[in-house]
Amino acid sequence: MILPIVAYGDPILRKVGAEITKDYPGLEKLIDDMYETMVKAKGVGLAAPQINKSIKLFIIDSTRMYDEEEKNEGLKEVFINPVITKETGDDWPYEEGCLSIPSIREDVYRKDKVKIEYYDRAFKHHKREFTGLTARVIQHEYDHVIGKLFIDHLKPLKKNLLKGKLDKISKGIVDVDYKMKFPKV
Ligand code: NI
Repeated sequence: MILPIVAYGDPILRKVGAEITKDYPGLEKLIDDMYETMVKAKGVGLAAPQINKSIKLFIIDSTRMYDEEEKNEGLKEVFINPVITKETGDDWPYEEGCLSIPSIREDVYRKDKVKIEYYDRAFKHHKREFTGLTARVIQHEYDHVIGKLFIDHLKPLKKNLLKGKLDKISKGIVDVDYKMKFPKV
């Protein structure tokens, strides 16, 4: 089932998500619905707050960022109760976008390497390290479950310039071809 994606301006995007247990009601279906919703919206990651659930869960599929012959570079994974324990390496810029903030893309600087602990969809615990584009998607989605957005990483001047556009997005004045829930409509 395709779920509506919450747009910028909704307070749920600013909340720190709650940890969940493996008994969380409808978890399997929720994860499947999130994948369906993400693929439909042509995203490479989706976090639970974006579908109106304030919990520590996000999914990614960074294989979608690679060409056919290098698909194994990417990762399709579910992250439950994630904790980033370390970010190292050089800051590098990458043009990020967000399904909750359609039509805006900006260069964001983040560290190259990330260490993360999480549970997968079978509630198996993992401690893993990622680099490059997969690390990037994880960092972006992890931000969502702690109430942060990629625009928070921009310089104040840049963020100021986006104010008008962001306000329009929250009012639903934006061209988007997937289902959204706008807070100011
Ligand atoms: Ni996002």
